[in-house]
Amino acid sequence: MSEIPEHLLKRSKAAKSKATGKPAEADAPAADTAASTAVTAATPATAAAVVPTADLPYLDPEPEPSKPTPEYIKAYTSRKKIPFWAMPVVLAAPVWAYGLAGTLQQPETEDPLVVESAEIYVAAGCAGCHGANGGGGSGYQLSDGEVLQTFPEAIDMMVHVARGSGAINGEAYGAERTDGNRRVSGTLGQMPAQLNALTQEELELVIYHERATLSGEDMSTEANAEWAEHVREAAESGAETEIDFDFLLACANPNFTPGATGEGSDDPENRPCPGPHSTEEAE
Ligand code: HEC
Repeated sequence: MSEIPEHLLKRSKAAKSKATGKPAEADAPAADTAASTAVTAATPATAAAVVPTADLPYLDPEPEPSKPTPEYIKAYTSRKKIPFWAMPVVLAAPVWAYGLAGTLQQPETEDPLVVESAEIYVAAGCAGCHGANGGGGSGYQLSDGEVLQTFPEAIDMMVHVARGSGAINGEAYGAERTDGNRRVSGTLGQMPAQLNALTQEELELVIYHERATLSGEDMSTEANAEWAEHVREAAESGAETEIDFDFLLACANPNFTPGATGEGSDDPENRPCPGPHSTEEAE
């Protein structure tokens, strides 16, 4: 083993004492203390191995005062490591993975009301004519509040979907839309009647889907939240109630629905009108 030159050893000691705060000469006596003996003497091999690495920086003649960090380094270290344009992908990844792990169909929600109502929208064929997301096709757009313009109340929509457009061809239906016009049945084509195709539960589910999910109706109002709860319970009960069209006509608003009587339910306590309703309407 080659000798370490004397001047280097001195410099090393001086630097070490600077670092430890001990005077260089104190090195030897300090080695006698119990603590340092335990470390250095008990494990000479480790000590030997440690010394060079610990000392090497001090072999450098004069440690330069640390330079101010250059701007471009600062910019690099403070930069966000994920570019902003990749954020949507990065943030969506867990959701996507979660969807894969789950049903693959509705990664956004597990709410059976939302899932089941969406399924009926497809199964009943609505999606084929009105678009998978309600954007329209051979039938009107139902999304983005469109269907809410025509039908401020779900009950009038139930009647329209149940009997279809053929039964009231040429008649105005629904409310005045933002363009100042009411819909006239048959203008765009024919909406097939669902009276014998759907149960009352399915009718309400599909209408829930078009209003709440596709058109973004605020379901947090008391009346709407109550209705949503009813639709959920009805779906979970597995009930298959035949649509009572006369009952729907009695409940519908004559201003929006041709043939509606506006009588309401004759037994509001036990058989309230379908759809959301505030307490005054139940009279
Ligand atoms: C065969 C194609 C077809 C299918 C299937 C279909 N629709 Fe329609 N729908 C139409 C057409 C066409 C119109 C417009 C008819 C008209 O001009 O009166 C319409 C109109 C409507 C309207 C009135 C919208 C408005 O703003 O005036 C609603 C609500 C509606 N459909 C809901 C449904 C639902 C719910 C289903 C599934 C149960 C469904 N549709 C299935 C073609 C279809």
